[in-house]
Amino acid sequence: MLVEPKSEPAAELVAEPQEEAGPQEETGTEEKAAEVAVDVVAPVPTFREDGLPPAGTCGDCHEHEEQLEEWRGSVHFQQRIQCANCHGGIDTAPPALLPKDVEHDIYAHFGIKARDEDGKAKPLAPSKKDTPEFCGKCHQNVLAVFSPLHLTSPPEGQRLKSSVTCHSNHAVAAAGNATYESRGAYKKGDEDDPRAAPFWSARETFDDLAGVIAGAEQSLEKLEQTGYPSETLKDEIEQSKEMLAQIRYLVHSLDTKRIDKAALEILESIEPVVADIQVQLTSSDDRWKLVVGVWAVALLLNILIVLKLRSLPAPPSSSVEEDVGVA
Ligand code: HEC
Ligand code: HEC
Ligand code: HEC
Repeated sequence: MLVEPKSEPAAELVAEPQEEAGPQEETGTEEKAAEVAVDVVAPVPTFREDGLPPAGTCGDCHEHEEQLEEWRGSVHFQQRIQCANCHGGIDTAPPALLPKDVEHDIYAHFGIKARDEDGKAKPLAPSKKDTPEFCGKCHQNVLAVFSPLHLTSPPEGQRLKSSVTCHSNHAVAAAGNATYESRGAYKKGDEDDPRAAPFWSARETFDDLAGVIAGAEQSLEKLEQTGYPSETLKDEIEQSKEMLAQIRYLVHSLDTKRIDKAALEILESIEPVVADIQVQLTSSDDRWKLVVGVWAVALLLNILIVLKLRSLPAPPSSSVEEDVGVA
């Protein structure tokens, strides 16, 4: 249950949301927020500093539409990215003097790409073709590596994939394995679509790396039990995790070589950490030598590094066309 903001919408244009603009009975609401924190849609009592409901005035008219519902369950809602942040328009209450019927609409849709139809300007949602730039306003790293193979020049006979094909437009979820498996994404093992292999190779690389990091974490837990001061090692593992999270966007490049190279850098940075943990564990107490997990991680790590190194000089997946001159 959302806490109802009780302020009247400001009558004039609010230029900059002020930090403490809302009236607040902060104390009670914070406790309530903690109690209901398990709600599917996490309640955010002070979602907007201007006191309007989460979608601002956009929600006044788009109230019963699926966009609103889907957006409420999205990662963007959690991050307080609102309709107007994506679409543009003005989502605060229009000046009181504007005639409601006509001007409210124009005001709300101000600046949203419009086309003339019988002399009438129409608010427009972005076309599929525009979505990389549209989303890329904020996700600049993705836009920078976004392969033309998805949308601008797909392989012959293959469908276009826009940003919303895999992520949805409003029901955008946190990125993860579910995204690889989303209905619109490339199918694993799809031999007809040359984009499938690099797409799934990326996932495997990330999974392998995540496995090594998780293994290192487990070994570190064991080391902690011996009383060894593990803060530095812990930091280094955290850093690898962070680095992994930061290269995942590279899946959009469909460039296996580039992805493997980035993963290899992280592998190499965690290798000495794993080695260190091993040495400390085995020297601290003989019985740790029997802990199979520790060795398994070290072994996996070595195999991976060898594999990745070997794969690097190989040409990027250039077997785009299978149908070699038969006719
Ligand atoms: C006064 C009511 C009202 C408000 C407020 C309002 N809208 Fe709309 N919106 C409409 C109507 C009605 C349409 C359909 C217009 C048409 O097709 O000519 C529309 C259409 C749109 C479209 C185009 C949909 C399509 O099919 O291409 C977008 C995008 C949109 N609105 C976004 C917003 C955003 C963002 C806000 C807040 C900044 C907002 N609207 C506020 C009434 C409103
Ligand atoms: C993450 C960015 C983002 C946010 C936030 C967002 N939209 Fe959209 N919206 C899009 C995209 C992208 C499309 C076009 C999708 C397509 O081409 O299939 C779209 C399409 C629409 C449309 C056209 C019909 C449709 O569903 O395709 C309407 C209306 C709309 N949005 C309203 C809203 C409203 C109202 C909100 C806030 C509750 C909102 N949007 C929040 C990205 C966003
Ligand atoms: C106004 C800025 C903005 C726009 C436009 C925008 N996003 Fe986001 N998006 C964010 C922020 C902020 C986050 C949370 C921080 C993060 O994970 O990068 C986020 C998170 C995400 C995530 C989760 C990332 C993760 O690592 O879990 C996905 C997926 C996503 N956005 C997809 C899209 C798509 C698709 C569009 C276009 C339809 C879009 N975004 C448009 C700001 C935006």
